[in-house]
Amino acid sequence: MRVLVSGGAGFIGSHTVVQLVAAGHDVVVVDSFANAKPSVAGRIEALTGQPLELHAFDLTDHDKTEHLFAEDSIDAVIHFAGYKAVGESVERPLDYYENNIGSTISLLRAMERHGVGKLVFSSSATVYGADPPVPMREDLPTSATNPYGWTKVMQEQIFRDVATASNAAGRSMRIALLRYFNPVGAHPSGTMGEDPADVPNNLMPYIAQVAVGRRERLGVFGDDYPTPDGTGVRDYIHVEDLAAGHIAALGRLEQVEQPVSVWNLGTGEGTSVLELLHAFERACGRELAYEILPRRPGDIAASYADPSRAHAELGWRAEKSVDDMCADTWRWQSQNPEGYPSG
Ligand code: UFG
Repeated sequence: MRVLVSGGAGFIGSHTVVQLVAAGHDVVVVDSFANAKPSVAGRIEALTGQPLELHAFDLTDHDKTEHLFAEDSIDAVIHFAGYKAVGESVERPLDYYENNIGSTISLLRAMERHGVGKLVFSSSATVYGADPPVPMREDLPTSATNPYGWTKVMQEQIFRDVATASNAAGRSMRIALLRYFNPVGAHPSGTMGEDPADVPNNLMPYIAQVAVGRRERLGVFGDDYPTPDGTGVRDYIHVEDLAAGHIAALGRLEQVEQPVSVWNLGTGEGTSVLELLHAFERACGRELAYEILPRRPGDIAASYADPSRAHAELGWRAEKSVDDMCADTWRWQSQNPEGYPSG
């Protein structure tokens, strides 16, 4: 299949591109490089052994998006592109709505015009809202607590409406909404990984930067949650398992009857902040400094998936352990202390 990967230079996108090529797909990447460095392309090429077809533009540019679909013969889209920082979305909501919703509409318009009917979307467990029961199942109601989360809820709704209208008009459209839990880890080669542009918002890249000496200590946001050790519990999933979930979903879209399918991609296991920190200490071989800070506003106590639907319907399940996630993250961070080279 010829697959367009939007945001293919990003953390999850780049790992998925490598697996798509390995699975025999023909891949074309579009990325604005708003939150990725161009040097990732060389790393992808080194792993696949093939030149990467890459277009550097923003999908909110309707003309460029239209031109790409007009010139190419794309069979399916995996849509990763989007802004993703929760705190930033609270400060700059319009940027989030404009970029995340705008790029999706531009993409869907081009898909409709050119008869492209298969799409896999990068959604998030954030759509389960403020206080969901755990483990989280796909049939829970959706809501959000910040503009970033609302863009995911809204994009899911846009996909549902467009898929319904499209099928009613006799155009076959099949969409997968993949709700990720907490993606971490890196390529086992140590050549690709997560490379936050700024101070990391997320736990794993922060711990990795403490381990490599870029930050002094981890701030643990609260130790008074109703969890076994009082720190927040999350379902960390290795980016390689997550990438494999996309390949499985893409394959499954060939067979499903319904216009929209929703699958959680998580391990089903919860890990606390301190458990992850200690697992990372085992991986890097030394103790890491931390201090307990107040809770971060908007955080929930525990989030983990019920991944049974993805297992039953995609034949997919996460294979890698928290120790694998830490070992691979450490290999990436220690080999690339400052992330990807600039330029
Ligand atoms: N944490 C710390 N210190 C830090 C960073 C995080 O203690 O420096 C804690 C948080 O309080 C939380 C846990 O580590 O308990 C995980 O936090 P992350 O920021 O890594 O992840 P979140 O679960 O808060 O957020 C992630 C994604 C969001 C998504 C959300 C829900 O980053 O994009 O899951 O799906 F919206």
